[in-house]
Amino acid sequence: MSEPKKLFIKTYGCQMNVYDSERMAEALGGQGYVETQSADDADMILLNTCHIREKAAEKVYSELGRFKGLKAEKPDLKIGVAGCVAQAEGEEIMRRQPLVDLVVGPQSYHRLPEMEAKTRQGAKALDTDFPEEDKFEQLKKRPKAKRGPTAFLTVQEGCDKFCAFCVVPYTRGAEVSRPVDRILNEARDLVERGVREITLLGQNVNAYHGAGPAGDMTLAQLIWQLDKIDGLERIRFTTSHPNDMGDDLIEAHGTCDKLMPYLHLPVQSGSDRILKRMNRSHTAESYLRLIERIRAARPDILMSGDFIVGFPEESEADFQATLNLVEEVKYGYAYSFKYSTRPGTPAAERPQVDLAEADDRLQRLQALITRDQRSVQDSMVGREVKVLFEKPGRLPGQMGGKSDYLHAVHVDDADVEIGDLRRVRIVDSAANSLRGVLA
Ligand code: 5AD
Ligand code: SF4
Repeated sequence: MSEPKKLFIKTYGCQMNVYDSERMAEALGGQGYVETQSADDADMILLNTCHIREKAAEKVYSELGRFKGLKAEKPDLKIGVAGCVAQAEGEEIMRRQPLVDLVVGPQSYHRLPEMEAKTRQGAKALDTDFPEEDKFEQLKKRPKAKRGPTAFLTVQEGCDKFCAFCVVPYTRGAEVSRPVDRILNEARDLVERGVREITLLGQNVNAYHGAGPAGDMTLAQLIWQLDKIDGLERIRFTTSHPNDMGDDLIEAHGTCDKLMPYLHLPVQSGSDRILKRMNRSHTAESYLRLIERIRAARPDILMSGDFIVGFPEESEADFQATLNLVEEVKYGYAYSFKYSTRPGTPAAERPQVDLAEADDRLQRLQALITRDQRSVQDSMVGREVKVLFEKPGRLPGQMGGKSDYLHAVHVDDADVEIGDLRRVRIVDSAANSLRGVLA
């Protein structure tokens, strides 16, 4: 038997890319590849790239440059670029970096096996189409191997919202929902292999409207279907848009025990003027009222969000409105980013905020967010929470996992196994994690 070929995938960006990388590894498994953790012994290197912020394309080019030596030593080594930079740059990647053999956009991953075969014949392979066929169906079924207790499952892709700063509608394309039965089959299969928590993924996941047996289903209806799967203990979803937060989804947060009390609901800014310029089609006020309704359904829900500071034309007063909104919501987690120009998006053409000013705002916002995150995390001390144990902790004898609220929790010298879901009393809160004892 010939030695299996080795595949090294480096994943950048969001959880959807993590999921896609898994599926690409599985698809190439059919071509005789096994994954390796090091580029040095790989027969194929794939960079699964992200284009959302910063000089994403430049980073990819410099990373590719580093493989020059490897390729010289090993002429059979194939190098590929996948993900949103591949979609955005296309052929340009091969022009600028001739050592690249393969460029594949996110909608064409099911074509990877043919593309790989083409590169083995010495040709270049490029595919950045938005094909008609369902890539998830075409991708090889997940192998039956046992796996860890948590998994991602992409249910929706693409976005029709066209926020003025965002490349997603261009790189991932129009919004598409996967049919219900396929998602349920994939979920059952994951559970059979040891998964106890599934995070449903989509760029605009709560706009989900996949085909069900009797017409389209909403995300809440899909969650209730997943709720029936024995052995599946926890359901999460991300990322949501405020305008797609349907009544049934809010209600499910109060009534579905498997749906975790955590909601990532990006608002981006607290200023109505900026929200309008961002094409967000909600106001700060409507967002706050929405959170009130969500908290009425599930009072202990942990809210999480995303913010952009230094969006074109953002004034100090606009930024103050963002700080006020953060004060009001009291996020358990929040992610803040300095605006980064994405060529081809509407905001790219507008007057930019001074960079030093944007840096200063980012620091002030992050200080406020850190304060709230810490106080929400500290408020867990003394409480009993459920923890799904995922992996050994940093110190010998420690085991770590996540609480329902997604806080990292570890216990010392306890009799727990990976995959156990146990009640834990929280005794201490450190910078980024909680310590507990089995209850
Ligand atoms: N600049 C800065 N942040 C951005 N995001 C998306 N596009 C940009 C951009 N051009 C942020 C948003 C989004 C998160 C995933 O990334 O906050 O919610
Ligand atoms: Fe991008 Fe999200 Fe806006 Fe869609 S809703 S355009 S993915 S920020």
